[in-house]
This record gives sequence, C-alpha cells and structure tokens, in this order.
Amino acid sequence: MISKTLAIKYTEYATVDEMQPADRKLVEAAIEARQSSYSPYSHFSVGAAVRLEDGTIVKGANQENAAYPSGLCAERTAMFAAGAAYPHLAMDALALVGGAWGETPDAPATPCGGCRQVMAEYQTKSGRPMKVFLVGKSRILAFDKVDDLLPFIFDTLKA
Ligand code: THU
Repeated sequence: MISKTLAIKYTEYATVDEMQPADRKLVEAAIEARQSSYSPYSHFSVGAAVRLEDGTIVKGANQENAAYPSGLCAERTAMFAAGAAYPHLAMDALALVGGAWGETPDAPATPCGGCRQVMAEYQTKSGRPMKVFLVGKSRILAFDKVDDLLPFIFDTLKA
C-alpha cells in the first residue's frame, strides 16, 4: 500500500493589469459576456470566453430554462459555440466570471464538474493544454491546463 499526494499549480493575479495583454483581453471578454446571461431562476450570472489558436474569442453566458436541466452553463455555451463555428481551431484558453446578479465575489466562481469534463475533452481534441482563468473581484486564478482543475480526467480519446 502506498499513499500518494497530488499537487496542483496555479498563479494568482490581484488584478487584470498584471496579466499578459492577450489574457487580459480574454478576461474582459468574459466579463462582457456575463451581460448576456439569461438566469431568471438562479439569479446567478456567469460569463465565459474561449480563445482560439488564431486569437479569435468566442463568448458564452449561462442560459436557463423553466425546465431546469435544459439550461446550460456559460463555459459550455462558449465551448460548444466555438466547437461548432470553428471545428478546426484549437482552444487555447478559457476565462470565466460569475456571481449573484450585480455582484462579483472577491473569490472567483469555479467551474462545475460537467464543464471541467467538457474542457478536458476540447483540450484533448485541440492537442494542446487549455489555460483556464477564474476571475474574481480581488483575485484571478490562472491554471496552465485543465488537468489542474480535473485530476484523473476521464478521457477515452487519450487512453
Ligand atoms: N453555472 C455556470 O454557468 N457555470 C458553472 O460552472 C456553474 C454554474 C450556471 C448554471 C446556472 O445557470 C447558474 O450558474 C446557477 O447554477
């Protein structure tokens, strides 16, 4: 028997001004995308933005429905839109911002398990690490790859 410990690495920024210009642009796109949230049931709005290998940014926001499971998270809205419109372009990075209507919490909202799984799949499809930025009011967390948000990824394409 052997006990093992898994370490994950991430970078914390205090403001977008500390970030690379391209990453800052992506974060700003996610903040902008949040305005398109349709969240009359949860009153929790989320914006996401995906950057493709050629620099194109695709935005998404959570979309809810009276039949609750029919809604979709912001991250998946953005990734599915990117996958559908630009199937041959790798997804380089994704930024996410969310909170109760009108609020951006100090600590960033973190993606649900389903969205992490979808990120993992597009990362594999893209054949390169997908960076993830989680945006809060007083800190932004940056992950170099989806593996750092979803250890032991279920991935039949990679196996
Ligand atoms: N939501 C997202 O958009 N992304 C996540 O990763 C977690 C949750 C949305 C779904 C729903 O519209 C609202 O936030 C409350 O759960």
